[in-house]
Amino acid sequence: MVNLNKNIILISGSLRKNSFNTKILKNFKTEICKFGYNCDIIDLNEYTLPFYNEDLEKVNLPKNLAALKQLFQNSTGLIVASPEYNGEISAVLKNTFDWLSRKLPGEVPKQSFSGLKAIAVTSSTGKNGGMRALERLKILLSRLGVKDEILSFSLANTSDEIFDKKNNILIEEQIFKIRNLVEYFITDIEIGQETTEQKILKVS
Ligand SMILES: Cc1cc2nc3c(=O)[nH]c(=O)nc-3n(C[C@H](O)[C@H](O)[C@H](O)COP(=O)(O)O)c2cc1C
Repeated sequence: MVNLNKNIILISGSLRKNSFNTKILKNFKTEICKFGYNCDIIDLNEYTLPFYNEDLEKVNLPKNLAALKQLFQNSTGLIVASPEYNGEISAVLKNTFDWLSRKLPGEVPKQSFSGLKAIAVTSSTGKNGGMRALERLKILLSRLGVKDEILSFSLANTSDEIFDKKNNILIEEQIFKIRNLVEYFITDIEIGQETTEQKILKVS
């Protein structure tokens, strides 16, 4: 019987209180919870980090970095949502990932991201749904070391009207998309963990 890691981390690249990206993550969280997983949405307003600077890193590591690293390293899956700002992901998300990518003493390279199954999410008020930022985000996640086959979801023409008062998405087609994506995501995570366990048993 495999002892499954059931922690998924969700991170929003928008600092805005009424962020559409954060609201979409809440819909992912609802679906993930149905599988009995723990999933916290990281609000980067609560994990402020200075702009990455190698000089700072040499003197004192920001406290929030240790907390974030711990959350990443205790998780088996990662869902990242970003707004598209001028065709790119948000600066706060890129900065957070730059800090997380740093190998601290005692860590192996890419420790924060390796082994994580990931879903990249973008939404925008425009008609392309943040597709350019989505491509950037997938390239970045791959470079940082998440597992191959990064899943993706993007939502175009996002507005307040597509959410109810509890931030549930009202468009049925999108609800099904998120549900199917999460089912695939969780299945893949569990198959991955079972395969790893079997390999360990064979060797030992
Ligand atoms: C500085 C800035 C640049 C933006 N650039 C783009 C863009 O390139 N493409 C796009 O579709 N939307 C763009 N937008 C619109 C955002 O995608 C939209 O405001 C979105 O709702 C922000 O995400 P949030 O609701 O999660 O905060 C831009 C918004 C800002 C403030």
